[in-house]
Amino acid sequence: SRMQTAERVEVVPMSVIETPTGAAPIYRRDNGAPVGDNRNSKTAGDMGPVLLEDAHLIEKLARFDRERVPERVVHARGTGAKGMFRATADISDYSMASLFQPSKETPVFVRFSSVIHGHLSPEYLRDPHGFATKFYTDEGNWDLVGNNLPVFFIRDAMQFPDMVHSLKPDPVTNRQDPNRFFDFFSHVPEATNMLTHLYTNLGTPASYREMDGNGVHAFRLVNDEGEQVFAKFRWISDQGVKNYTAAQAKEAGFNYLTDDLYGAISRGDHPSWNLMMQVLPVAEIGSLDYNPFDDTKEWLDRPWMKIGEMTLDEVPENFFEWTEQSAFAPSNMVPGIEPSPDRMLQGRLFSYADTQRYRVGANLFDLEVNAPRVAEAGDGPLNNNQNGQLNRSGRESHVNYFPSAMAPKQTPARARYSNYEIMAMVDQKQIEKTPDFEQPGIFWRSLSEADKAQLIANLSGDLGQVVSDRTRTIMVSYFYQADPEYGTRLAGAVDVAMPDVMQAVAEFNAAAPQTFPSP
Ligand code: HEM
Repeated sequence: SRMQTAERVEVVPMSVIETPTGAAPIYRRDNGAPVGDNRNSKTAGDMGPVLLEDAHLIEKLARFDRERVPERVVHARGTGAKGMFRATADISDYSMASLFQPSKETPVFVRFSSVIHGHLSPEYLRDPHGFATKFYTDEGNWDLVGNNLPVFFIRDAMQFPDMVHSLKPDPVTNRQDPNRFFDFFSHVPEATNMLTHLYTNLGTPASYREMDGNGVHAFRLVNDEGEQVFAKFRWISDQGVKNYTAAQAKEAGFNYLTDDLYGAISRGDHPSWNLMMQVLPVAEIGSLDYNPFDDTKEWLDRPWMKIGEMTLDEVPENFFEWTEQSAFAPSNMVPGIEPSPDRMLQGRLFSYADTQRYRVGANLFDLEVNAPRVAEAGDGPLNNNQNGQLNRSGRESHVNYFPSAMAPKQTPARARYSNYEIMAMVDQKQIEKTPDFEQPGIFWRSLSEADKAQLIANLSGDLGQVVSDRTRTIMVSYFYQADPEYGTRLAGAVDVAMPDVMQAVAEFNAAAPQTFPSP
């Protein structure tokens, strides 16, 4: 396993701005007019009220009142950096994506994040950690919106809002509560793999630099001939994977992940990653003993090949403009990269762009962090989407429709969606082949004794708070089915009786597929 527990290191403090010399620029209102007094409101005499006609005061307060946009519904706490991706392998047999020509460079913006806690929450809390990369390719932006963990909790977008509700603070008490999220997860055996990863020290990384990233889903790659394969992507950290114990993370402090990344980049210690890819030929998708489009599973038996390198070398000049307003969406794809049938990915294709039109606004692509850097981008609107708040398209043409002889635009054949055949019954049911306990068992057995002990301590710390014996027992029965030693050690730590665990295992295995333990 690549995982190590790090020694805790002190974060280097940021440098302080020097006092400038010479004449200072004039302080102005938003309309450009100079401001004569920026400390005192205009009043009706010494003892009189403040006048509404003080336009500068009203503007200042009104702008202040509007400083916040809604935080991301998940992954609200994060930090971003700019950098460069360099392709290192010719993968044109698999994908025509223009960024993958050896030694071609593509600028990137990366945002790291935690998932559940709010915008200004402490960075030491246990969470999966987001690793989202926006590649500004010459054929449009490709967003690889992944996590540090290789799998996910659930495999159907239908369950995502419920899962997030269970993990977010209680609607009554406004506190996160293990009674609620383990109630949810006791109905979700496929979460066993992700929960096992999350409760190791991978849930408290030593830094963002020492974290791998995973695309998690399968993607459909298409080459120039229209031929297709499925692929998964992973970032491997050149800094290694290092984690803290829960106690070390807490000691590292409120802002340690951001401070570390900013500190390293500012002192010229630029973190880098290798982009790796796994390939699954279409003909082999039925031959695995699990569904290859189930994001609760890794493709454990497939080799990884290196296809590129990324270095982060610049901290954004303004946190809000770049990091907060960045809008990563799995639906931002480029020719050569398309969706697989993964039901989570399919839901994400809708959800991100939708939330961003609300969170940032319909004209979010006009912001520098989100704007594509394609050749035509300087020459006015790319398409006929128009208007809305804060529009700055610079549209001068009479033609805002397609097609037009007055202002023709091309739709190149290479950019058409690929063709593939489907023979299927339309229905609504769970996937077949769900060996949900095999991979968490393999993962458990790959851990060192120290990491096993940490996992049991971390997991029992939360599961042990659950009041319901039945919920604790069902949860332990899942971990037991992953590995008997794992389940037995956990049962001891959360005060669950082994005969009850064995009873829950028997009930689980007696239930027909498609049925879940009833509440
Ligand atoms: C952020 C939805 C699954 C990784 C978000 C956001 C939404 C969302 C609405 C906020 C976006 C924004 O405001 O800009 C969903 C849904 C999912 C899902 C509906 C399942 C159907 C996943 C999975 C991963 C993931 C499987 C990892 C592979 C991320 C990351 C961010 C994010 C990294 C933060 C991006 C950033 O830094 O701005 N998700 N998510 N999500 N999600 Fe998901």
